[in-house]
Amino acid sequence: MSKFIGVLTSGGDCPGLNAAIRGLVRAGQNQYDMQFVGFLDGFRGMAQDRTLELNRKTLSGILVDGGTILGTSRDTPARTREMTDEIVATYNRHHLDALVCLGGDGTHKNAMRLKEAGLNVVTMPKTIDNDIACTDVTFGFNTALGIATEAIDRLHSTATSHHRVMVVEIMGNSAGWLTLGAGIAGGADVILLPEIPYDVDMISAAIKRRARAGKRFSIVAVAEGAITKEDAKVVAELKKQLAATEDEAERDQLEEKIRRLEGARVGHSVKLTQEIEEVTGQESRLTILGHLQRGGTPSSFDRLLATRLGTACARMIHEEKFGNMVAVKGQEIVPVAIEEVANTTNRVPVDHAWVETARLVGTSFGDQ
Ligand code: F6P
Repeated sequence: MSKFIGVLTSGGDCPGLNAAIRGLVRAGQNQYDMQFVGFLDGFRGMAQDRTLELNRKTLSGILVDGGTILGTSRDTPARTREMTDEIVATYNRHHLDALVCLGGDGTHKNAMRLKEAGLNVVTMPKTIDNDIACTDVTFGFNTALGIATEAIDRLHSTATSHHRVMVVEIMGNSAGWLTLGAGIAGGADVILLPEIPYDVDMISAAIKRRARAGKRFSIVAVAEGAITKEDAKVVAELKKQLAATEDEAERDQLEEKIRRLEGARVGHSVKLTQEIEEVTGQESRLTILGHLQRGGTPSSFDRLLATRLGTACARMIHEEKFGNMVAVKGQEIVPVAIEEVANTTNRVPVDHAWVETARLVGTSFGDQ
């Protein structure tokens, strides 16, 4: 019997979303006699029942387009009973057999909430941050990696001409995959990650070592969520206190303090660049890549990956393996239960092979 499937994209956009939607709908229509309806602007649009027909015409030419034809938002039905109820009502009104959510870590928490509410939910892992648990890779990451690497390449020539320290801030609030990958590929001299707290004096020592060896410029690749050793200690202490208390008011206060401290890290690279200039005595400049990293045409790798995930998702729905994310494991695409994904962030292990590789070529992480 023909199945009717809802589709939405949620959270920050990334290159490859359209390729994934196209892969899903084409495979579903061609192979499994499915019909699809798109919901606009993420969970909010579904709650409000705003739709886009997904047919040959709306899908035409979107493989190479960045962004998402469905629009997106950062709503969190997981936190509001009301929005969850509205989404369930829309699902029932359309007599859907399943809902496909394309998104990152926040989307997986929301998808879990909808699964608990009884919906047949399946998800696809998207994000430039590559921080979704239980999958080797997410689509969007490879394109952003190319953009950030090219930016570092371009900064090299101007850094050399002016004998400057060029600091480049790369996206990644809680996971440093993008900064680490682009930092290695672009040959950054210092890489700063949220997972490896840094000390400005260590950064300075690395830059001065280079200067003594005759290198009159340096490139510092810093993740937006990178943190100093000092702040990391404070956060760790607050988290310890949080784990030790059951008192609701105290928990609220502690959580608020942690949020404020972690929030203050975003955009901290302005201060960091000034500090580097002061401690090294070398002229320093900052480039914030920001949303440039999320825009534009997906790389061929991401188009291929998103198409594979989209088509695998259609098959998973056909086989009624609901409640799962389509995950990449080596050469395979496999289902993983949404609850396994929802409460874990895939952060860079401090002894990861990429970290070791960077250290072996002499890159400093500002930690020793
Ligand atoms: O999609 C993840 C991400 O790119 C993070 O790296 C970044 O912190 C965040 O999105 C910024 O999102 P926005 O400004 O779109 O809310």
